[in-house]
Amino acid sequence: MPKTLAIIKPDAVKKNVIGKIITRIEDEGFKIAAMRQMRLSADEAKAFYIVHKAKPFFQGLSAFMSSGPIVVLMLERDDAITRWRDVMGATDPAKAAPGTLRHSFGFDIERNAVHGSDAAETAEWELNFFFKS
Ligand code: CMP
Repeated sequence: MPKTLAIIKPDAVKKNVIGKIITRIEDEGFKIAAMRQMRLSADEAKAFYIVHKAKPFFQGLSAFMSSGPIVVLMLERDDAITRWRDVMGATDPAKAAPGTLRHSFGFDIERNAVHGSDAAETAEWELNFFFKS
C-alpha cells in the first residue's frame, strides 16, 4: 500500500487540534501505520528540510519546526501522496481552498499546520528519517 509522511506542525499542536487533524485523516480513508509525538532539535529540523537549504526561509523554517512538539505519522492508502496533499491544501493557507487543513488551521506560509511528502522518493526518504526501523 502506498505510504506518505505527514507532520502535524508545532503551530497546530499548540492550537490543540491534533485530534481534529487525526479525525480528518481517518475520515479521508488513511490508515495510520505509525505515529509519534516528538520535538526536533534545530539541527534535526535543518537536516529534515535540507532540500530547502538555499531558500531565504530555511533558517526561520528550521527554528519554527524545532520550536515545540510535532506529531509525525506514516499514512497509508491508495494514492497516499496526492490524496494527503489534496487534504492539506496549498502551502500558503491564504491560498488554500476552504475545507482543506491549511485553510482551517494554518496561520501563514511558514506556520501552515501540516506537512506532507511531495513525491514517492521524498516519501521514502522522509519516512526513513522518522521511522527508521
Ligand atoms: P512544507 O510542506 O512543510 O514544506 C516546506 C515548508 O517551508 C512549507 O511547508 C512551509 O512551512 C515553508 N515555506 C515554504 N515557502 C515559504 C516561504 N515563502 N516563506 C516561509 N516559509 C515557507
